[in-house]
Amino acid sequence: MSDATWHSAGIDRVILTEEQIREKTEELAKLVAADYADAESLLLVGVLKGAVMFMADFARVLGRYGPPVELEFMAVSSYVQGTTSSGVVRILKDLDREIAGRDVLVIEDIVDSGLTLSWLLKYLKTRSAASVDVVALMRKPAAIKVQVPVKYVGFDLPNDFVVGYGLDYRERYREMPFVGVLKPSAYNTP
Ligand code: XMP
Ligand code: MG
Repeated sequence: MSDATWHSAGIDRVILTEEQIREKTEELAKLVAADYADAESLLLVGVLKGAVMFMADFARVLGRYGPPVELEFMAVSSYVQGTTSSGVVRILKDLDREIAGRDVLVIEDIVDSGLTLSWLLKYLKTRSAASVDVVALMRKPAAIKVQVPVKYVGFDLPNDFVVGYGLDYRERYREMPFVGVLKPSAYNTP
């Protein structure tokens, strides 16, 4: 699908281009590779479904510069009140293996209120990881207000609802290679 077609499919404007995402991913992966240069391996934990595109791209770049990586996925659902998460999280898919003693890096698409991530970090610590840090491609202003340590952040975004590159509105737009904002009319279509 061309970008023009995406626009007619409801995208109002582009926030992050494919090129910006690619450059930032490279930059973040090099930082991580340098910080973990002495690590034997690194366990990436991606949060489904939103982080799937970033996880795939980030892991491939990291593989060129850093220690060997293993990929794990978790799926969680935060009980949403309106459009904001409540901080109460349910595990839909847990880790497939033990993470005790491992260096863990949580790969997040976007940190908004930070409530989901804050819960996840506590959970991973109860599983006795040697270290737990976070890479988030995007962060929204509200996240600044909660005490959730995100060591590696790609972009600080304005407070708009965004879609694309893994992020959805009602399960749509995840496959867009860029991140954009929807036209108001797109929220009403079935
Ligand atoms: P909290 O508020 O707990 O929530 O940090 C983070 C999760 O909320 C989702 N989220 C979004 N999804 N466009 C989306 O498609 C957005 O602008 C957006 N902001 C938050 C996302 O699942 C994220 O992991
Ligand atoms: Mg969603």
